[in-house]
Amino acid sequence: MDARIDLRSDTVSQPSERMRHAMATAEVGDDWYGDDPTVNLLQDRAAELTGKEAAIYLPTGTMCNQIALHAYVGSGHLAVCEASAHLGGTEASSAAALSGVAFRYVPAASRGLLTAEQVGVALAPDPYDASVVDLVALENTHQVGGGSVLGVAETGRIAAVATAAGVPLYLDGARIFNACAVAGVAVADYARHADSMMFCLSKGLGAPIGSVLAGDAAFIREARRLKILLGGAWRQAGIMAAAGLIALAEGPGRLPEDHANARALAAGLAELLPGSVDPADVPTNIVFADVSGTGRDAARWRELLAEEGVLVTIIGGRVRMLTHVGVTAAGISAALDAWRRAAKAP
Ligand SMILES: Cc1ncc(COP(=O)(O)O)c(C=O)c1O
Repeated sequence: MDARIDLRSDTVSQPSERMRHAMATAEVGDDWYGDDPTVNLLQDRAAELTGKEAAIYLPTGTMCNQIALHAYVGSGHLAVCEASAHLGGTEASSAAALSGVAFRYVPAASRGLLTAEQVGVALAPDPYDASVVDLVALENTHQVGGGSVLGVAETGRIAAVATAAGVPLYLDGARIFNACAVAGVAVADYARHADSMMFCLSKGLGAPIGSVLAGDAAFIREARRLKILLGGAWRQAGIMAAAGLIALAEGPGRLPEDHANARALAAGLAELLPGSVDPADVPTNIVFADVSGTGRDAARWRELLAEEGVLVTIIGGRVRMLTHVGVTAAGISAALDAWRRAAKAP
């Protein structure tokens, strides 16, 4: 048993016994030839959930984003995204190297949440600007925004602005199920406003591997070509898809528990280090603590917490912690005790 409390990401969770059993007994085929029945089942289920014509199972969320960028955006053209969006930041080098894609970054006023007005300004024609915008990309929930949730209504308004400008809308829904749990809507309610979208099975849903890209049939045909081109034809992938199917069935229903744990963590930190976090700003499973007022930098906090068996990451100078299926309410209490002990350390 791992005694550590690993809050570095919601990707660190271990597959459940049910997942391991399903993986061991999965019916499989060769996914290059499209005849892995478990992959095909997962893809059909994802298409149904998103309300899209088709879906494709891919190894990572990054590959979903990069295939979408390559499919939509011409080399030397632009994608509009929020300034700290994963696909335009962490993955910017991939987009440049693989597809020659550049970004028009729009800084959100609050928590990574773009508005239709901002997207409208980013898409407004400018006779003196020779650049071409081929795509608007949204991220929901927004990771660097602290797991913030863009509502369905605003997503629809942004889609209307993009449609009016003749630009397709893509949704990086790595954590869309977390957004749905808060907004009380189905994935299809968001997906209907986007030309295509992806979601990750390997984050809050708890699968060990995999993400799904969904869209119309022609887009998914092209995505399949690009997947093979990138070396992603992963043969008997049904072994992983079997766990993905369980993640889809069982994962969404337990996300409110992760959200409650994240809020409890934020509340405890707000008490210990006033001003470091506002629990009202923690709608889903991501907690950012601003430790700049503590006399110690984030790297020192990370070190002290690691000594106490609690693992965290640092993003933009803040301590980042994510809750997931591997962290219980008791684990959150233990993590808060570790923070309290670390606070007393010299
Ligand atoms: C919002 C968002 N999009 C995409 C990704 C990429 O997913 P993956 O790690 O599966 O490549 C991440 C990963 O953290 C993410 O947070």
